[in-house]
Amino acid sequence: MNNTKPFEIDRDLISPNRNIVPITSVVDKDRGLLVGGCALLDLGKHYGTPLYVLDEETIRVGCRSYLRALKKYYPGKSLPLYASKANSSLVISSIVASEGMGLDVVSEGELITALKGGVPGERIFLHGNNKSDEELLLAYQSGATVVIDNHHDVERLKEVIPHDKDPLNLMLRFTPGIECHTHEYIKTGHLDSKFGFDPDQVKEVLYELKQIHWTKLTGIHAHIGSQIFELQPHQDLVEVMIDLFQLARKIGHPVKDLNVGGGLGIRYTGSDDPPTIDSWIEGIANTLKNTCKARNIELPRLMCEPGRSLVATAGITLYKLGSRKEIPGSTVYLSVDGGMSDNPRPITYESLYTACLANQPLAKADEMVTIAGKHCESGDVLLKDLGLPNSQSGDILVVFGTGAYNNSMSSNYNRIPRPAAVLVNSGQAELVQKRELPQDLLRNDVLPVRFLEVG
Ligand code: LLP
Repeated sequence: MNNTKPFEIDRDLISPNRNIVPITSVVDKDRGLLVGGCALLDLGKHYGTPLYVLDEETIRVGCRSYLRALKKYYPGKSLPLYASKANSSLVISSIVASEGMGLDVVSEGELITALKGGVPGERIFLHGNNKSDEELLLAYQSGATVVIDNHHDVERLKEVIPHDKDPLNLMLRFTPGIECHTHEYIKTGHLDSKFGFDPDQVKEVLYELKQIHWTKLTGIHAHIGSQIFELQPHQDLVEVMIDLFQLARKIGHPVKDLNVGGGLGIRYTGSDDPPTIDSWIEGIANTLKNTCKARNIELPRLMCEPGRSLVATAGITLYKLGSRKEIPGSTVYLSVDGGMSDNPRPITYESLYTACLANQPLAKADEMVTIAGKHCESGDVLLKDLGLPNSQSGDILVVFGTGAYNNSMSSNYNRIPRPAAVLVNSGQAELVQKRELPQDLLRNDVLPVRFLEVG
């Protein structure tokens, strides 16, 4: 293990983002590590590797933590949304919908996944800094709200949205001048961000929207970053957002929603120390409550948009160990049957992870190894300096914290098929994503006829 006490699960806090492992993780001396009541060795054997495993209970407990904290600390209405870019699928859409949450999407693909997964249109919010006409129209037809990001959005919805039917609900996204660099933040007047209206543009666009009677501005949105460990940035954000909320009201917009975005961090390794979901919501809710009281304004509906903190620690990836390369006096490379195509985060962001062997999760480390992926890229390394007991080719390696931004950011680099995914709960495993086959990767290739005629 390359961290301290990874299996220590804090059940009292009920904040899955504070654990490294899924909350149902159990070590059995004969069967090794179990998640959702399923032995990971059995899953690897039955479904093959690499395999994404999602623990349903961890996701549901995360949803309930957000819902419960909002009820506890905020006397007004509230609605947490799941940021589906973290991991978009029918089954996760269906789980979050059944918990009573909404969901945000950034593309037609995520939108149809949410709709088919059973999320009601009125609980879907479409984001994006370059939405297509098709995306705008589909959002309108499905009753979703569109989060306008720039003048192009405004121009396109003048063209695309019918002028004589029910109005399209809009939120306005702006850049609040609060910038988070992972674990620290700064406040600036303006941000060099591709997302959202600059604060200087907001007044003008609010007046312009008043003229577009086939739309209705229902709220204000901002998102300041991801994997944030501090509480203060979102509290400062609330104050900035209230100014804008009041301005929109003054101009005559019926705004009622205030969405502070996502961003709460998770524990990938023992040195990460994110706040609980409860304390994150407490800080935001109290600031909003107090600011509204001080300014004598009605409480808006409070919305937030967590992605990573809902699904990251619910997910693990199983790999099979293969080749071993020992460089004398230097590195021991153990290669696995996946890598940067199923988890591009280490090569993209130098992200750190925690891992163990499925058959002996608690065994003491005999050696320090580097886990290499199978792609033709020297940087395709999943973990460095991982302490593992002596292992053999064929052993199952478990990497934790892969439920967010792994499957959704996966690729077919080197024409490697994407893994299967299973959902585990109470000893049952259900396939929720079929394994791609190498021949599936040819489905969109077209060989022009003249090449067939050669020879
Ligand atoms: N809302 C908006 C508008 C966002 O852009 C994001 C994430 C979220 C909500 C959810 O944020 P979360 O709660 O997951 O932090 N690929 C990167 C993360 C990119 C986050 C993009 N926006 C990674 O793998 O770390």
